[in-house]
Amino acid sequence: MMTNKTVTVRSVEETWRVAAEVAARLRPGQVVALHGDLGAGKTTFVQGLGRALGLTRPVTSPTFTLCTEYATPAFTLAHLDLYRLTGPDDLLAIGFLEYLEAGAVVAVEWPERAGELLPADALHVRFTLTGDSDTRVIELAGG
Ligand SMILES: Nc1ncnc2c1ncn2[C@@H]1O[C@H](COP(=O)(O)OP(=O)(O)O)[C@@H](O)[C@H]1O
Ligand SMILES: [Mg+2]
Repeated sequence: MMTNKTVTVRSVEETWRVAAEVAARLRPGQVVALHGDLGAGKTTFVQGLGRALGLTRPVTSPTFTLCTEYATPAFTLAHLDLYRLTGPDDLLAIGFLEYLEAGAVVAVEWPERAGELLPADALHVRFTLTGDSDTRVIELAGG
């Protein structure tokens, strides 16, 4: 169980710092559910996870591919963007359950589209845009 907390970040680097704290506490098979509007910083957060996990390849948005897989020294990081998901069958076709069974960490943008396939012990990260273009509020819950 991770500690629930709310932080205000004022730059991409600060978002990466929060992601690094989360990365240090991830367990295999964990889902990280990333909530927030377009441009809120969900993909930027996954970039921070990747950096903290030792990825040299940059994390890019999987908006058009639905899923991108990265091998990190610790575990596979699967990055899903469900914005274009048409139904749960799509999620099964991506291999969502197999990723979890194999002990991958699965970071999911637009997780509400996963419906009941989203595990109850997912770590929820909520990004809120503010009046300042570089400032975001990040809330961590569950996990
Ligand atoms: N504090 C911040 N945290 C994250 N992104 C930020 C921040 N400030 C500005 N940005 C910018 O906001 C955009 C966030 O985009 P992205 O991470 O792709 O959002 P999403 O995946 O939620 O649609 C990027 O262009 C990033 O450079
Ligand atoms: Mg994104």
